[in-house]
Formats: sequence, C-alpha cells, structure tokens
Amino acid sequence: ALISMRQLLDHAAEHGYGVPAFNVNNLEQMRAIMEAADETDSPVIVQASAGARKYAGAPFLRHLILAAVEEFPHIPVVMHQDHGTSPAVCQRSIQLGFSSVMMDGSLKEDGKTPADYAYNVEVTRRTVEMAHACGVSVEGELGCLGSLETGMAGEEDGVGAEGKLDHDQLLTDPEEAAEFVKATQVDALAIAIGTSHGAYKFTKPPTGDTLSIQRIKEIHARIPETHLVMHGSSSVPQEWLEVINEFGGAIPETYGVPVEEIVEGIRHGVRKVNIDTDLRLASTGAVRRFLAQNPAEFDPRKFLKVSTAAMKDVCKARYEAFGTAGQA
Ligand code: G3H
Ligand code: 13P
Ligand code: NA
Ligand code: ZN
Repeated sequence: ALISMRQLLDHAAEHGYGVPAFNVNNLEQMRAIMEAADETDSPVIVQASAGARKYAGAPFLRHLILAAVEEFPHIPVVMHQDHGTSPAVCQRSIQLGFSSVMMDGSLKEDGKTPADYAYNVEVTRRTVEMAHACGVSVEGELGCLGSLETGMAGEEDGVGAEGKLDHDQLLTDPEEAAEFVKATQVDALAIAIGTSHGAYKFTKPPTGDTLSIQRIKEIHARIPETHLVMHGSSSVPQEWLEVINEFGGAIPETYGVPVEEIVEGIRHGVRKVNIDTDLRLASTGAVRRFLAQNPAEFDPRKFLKVSTAAMKDVCKARYEAFGTAGQA
C-alpha cells in the first residue's frame, strides 16, 4: 500500500531503524528494490529525481511505482520526489500522486546556486502548507552537500551546487536546524555532513574529518524528534569497482560512505538514507561482466536479468544493515 513518508519514518523512529531510499529510473531498479523488500519483509521508499522523469517520462515513472504497489500489496511503499527545486515542481508531483516530496531549498531554482536561509525557509514553508493539506509529507534540506576536503559538490552533471562551497555551508548548524524545522514544519530534514552525490565522494576512506557523524549526533541532540535524512549515502562497493574495471571500465580510485558509519547515524536519528550510485555501479558491473563473458548473447533480457540480481543484492544488504528488514 502507498503510505506517506511521515507514517513510515515515525514507525522507524519508534523502532530504531533506518530506511534506504533508492532512486528509480527503470523497471529493473523497481523490480530489484521490491523483490529485495519482499524477501526481507521491508518497507520501501522509492524516489524519483527530475533526471528520472526526463529519462522515463512522468507517466511511465508514476505507473512503475503504482505497479510495484499493485504487485506487492503487503509492502508499505512511499512514493517520494527527490530534490524538488521549487514549490511548483512539488505541487506537480503531488498532483501525480506522490505521497512525499523533497523541497530542496538549499539551492536556488536552478539547482546549482546555493540559496540563503530566508529563501530556503520561505519555499519550504509554502511547500509544507500545500503538501500537508493533501496528506503528503515534505523533506527539507539545510546545508549544502559537498566534500569537506575540496568544498565541491562533486557530480559534474547531476544534482548539486556549482563552484566551491564555504566550510560553514558544508556542515548543517544544529541551532539553525532547530530554527528551520520550527519555521517550516518539515517532516524530515536532510543535513550536510560531508557527503556528496555520485561515486566520487572521498579520495581515501573517510575519517571523522571528512565525514562528520559527530555532526549528526549534535543535530539529533538538539532536535531529537526530527527525522534526519542522509543524502549521498552510497557506499561505493570496492568489489563492484573491481568488476567494472576488470571488464573494460575505467573508474579511478574512490570511496563512499561505509555502511557501519550509516548504521551509527541511524543510532542518532537518521531515518532515511538516500542511495542511487550503488545500484548504478552494481548494474554496470553485472552488465559489463555478462557481456564480456557471453559475447554471442544479444537478448537484452539476459543482461538486464543479471543487472537486476546485482542491484537486488545491494538492496537486501542495506535493508538488513539498516534494520529495515522485518519491519514491513
Ligand atoms: O540526487 C541525486 C540522485 O542520484 C539522482 O540523480 O539526477 O542523475 O537522476 P539524477
Ligand atoms: P548517492 O549518489 O550517494 O547514491 O546519493 C543519492 C542521493 O542522495 C539522492 O538524493
Ligand atoms: Na529526497
Ligand atoms: Zn540527494
């Protein structure tokens, strides 16, 4: 059944678990997420970005998620819009039937320019007013995702700030977070702690200086009732990088957010954990390996099947690690 994000995250807080929020663009990702959830008895958050809508088309994306709800009626599903850039974008998603939206007012409507605090409060507050009237949840974001080493948001073509960010934008301030939640009444708050979108988060395994789980603890201590959201939370599995590079890929050395650090975050108020890159890496590795090892195959179902299986394994591992398993 389709449920709101608030319902799910309240349950997660009460029972002390976190929920991975996987991005969805196509049928294979949707199947991987749902089959993994079904086999581990996990509730699901599926999220669609603007890029996903551009790729699949809004009606296809919407029906893909609705098909998941139809095929797995016993699994609670949140249909979430990732990184909405304006109240108008969020409004369209609500009209499409999404049960949750993210109003990312940390950036201006272009999705690239860091916005000031007053702008963020205003667009988020307006979105909450509209969404809550429809029973839809809202995630806001305070602080800008980006590397504490370089000040860069990381992804060249994706979601994120352009140019170098100041150190104080890269770590959400606990006092400002309290003020923001009070002023906007958001259901969940995305925070900046040194992660960034994409595969290139850290040049070496992160330490407390580059990934601030400490900051999560400080924010949670100040606003214990607020559901915290970690973006840029792919772990960038080294085994999949090896497979990709073994079979013709060229991905330089890079590191993600270790699963055990996310689990520590979940102990301190993190309830939603955004993951996209890990499914992309697993899918690419599985397809590269299959095609290299089966050069005479040309039925796409063959390589899409191994892609789905690889993504499903990642989903299951996260459901289990985050304590989502058994909570559906
Ligand atoms: O927020 C970033 C997500 O990974 C979505 O990426 O805009 O390429 O679909 P995308
Ligand atoms: P990753 O790129 O680390 O998977 O993060 C995804 C994300 O935060 C989507 O909003
Ligand atoms: Na989101
Ligand atoms: Zn994100």
